Amino acid sequence: MRLGYYDEAIKNACEYRKKEAPVMLAIESSCDETAASVVRGGRDVLSMSVYTQIPIHRKYGGVVPELASRSHVEKVAGVVDDALEKANMTINDVDAVSATYGPGLVGALLVGLSYAKGLAYASNKPFIGADHIAGHIAANYLSYKELEPPFVCLVASGGHSHIILVEGYNSFKLLGRTRDDAAGEAFDKVARALGLSYPGGPELEKLAREGDANAFSFRGGFNDGDSLDFSFSGIKTAVVNLMHNAEQKGEKLNRADIAASFQRSVVDTLCTKAVRAAKHNGVSTLALAGGVSANTALRTALEAEAKKAGLRFCRPDMRFCTDNAAMIACAAHYALMEAGPSELSLNAQPSKELAE
Ligand code: KG4
Ligand code: ZN
Repeated sequence: MRLGYYDEAIKNACEYRKKEAPVMLAIESSCDETAASVVRGGRDVLSMSVYTQIPIHRKYGGVVPELASRSHVEKVAGVVDDALEKANMTINDVDAVSATYGPGLVGALLVGLSYAKGLAYASNKPFIGADHIAGHIAANYLSYKELEPPFVCLVASGGHSHIILVEGYNSFKLLGRTRDDAAGEAFDKVARALGLSYPGGPELEKLAREGDANAFSFRGGFNDGDSLDFSFSGIKTAVVNLMHNAEQKGEKLNRADIAASFQRSVVDTLCTKAVRAAKHNGVSTLALAGGVSANTALRTALEAEAKKAGLRFCRPDMRFCTDNAAMIACAAHYALMEAGPSELSLNAQPSKELAE
């Protein structure tokens, strides 16, 4: 370790805290997007750059971790340069550097994490690791400048489906979670069964627009109870069984009706549990986050249910829903304000839990 790096980094972290509008550069590389962003004062997005690997993984029907890591290595430098350029800045104009350190694919995480540490070390800036799920939640702060904790947030992504009580910017309590598949994972699996390409969520949503959401009833019995936990594997299996049975009998089912009915079932479950969690915990705001928050049926239904229950509803702008680095910069800003910089020995945590 170069003598004096930590002294400089801690001094500069104190400067960051004192500034009215400190500038955070963030890198996100936890899955199949290489992203960088420059954010001022935690919430003012100056630039975003995202390279998506979807075309690389499409032919395999899902993310291939080895290919993801290799692509991040190729793209990370260019994506960071692009974000700085779009913000009209160089690394010298940045006050701190951050990266996602978990949860996610280990090889993919290590690329962004190591690159951010290198940048911080070379420029004597503080480095701060950020949690990916805290990032998804923070996407709401980018869209609602006055939003403050406490609130309840439903985080529905490809790897996670959690209902979280956001007690403070860095304080989270897990209220409920999926017992099996994440919501996005269920969308992707059912989409694949319907012959749609990866990533299936947006494709399934498109198909569902042409279908009748009441054509079939796909129920996951577990979801009927009072618990704030939920399950999507039963719903997914019900869809797959229906399709197999029809195939065996030589019957042709309407794929759009299946997509719409499946989507309705997932959306109903998420809405019921999220609204119940908000009511039980006495908060006045319910927020939505994660890649599945880009789903219009979910956004519309949850907004209506929240209103009916007398809750304020928040959801990120579309560009902040799926993986991006602006949300990471925002989460890192609040982590740095409260906890100070991370050690340069911070490792990737593929199974990191935000809250218990
Ligand atoms: O948050 P995200 O970008 O990555 C993870 O952290 O996992 O979420 C990706 C997930 C994928 O499963 C994708 O199919 C799903 O979000 N997704 C959608 C939609 N857009 C993305 N699911 C349903 N409807 C959508 N419009
Ligand atoms: Zn994500």
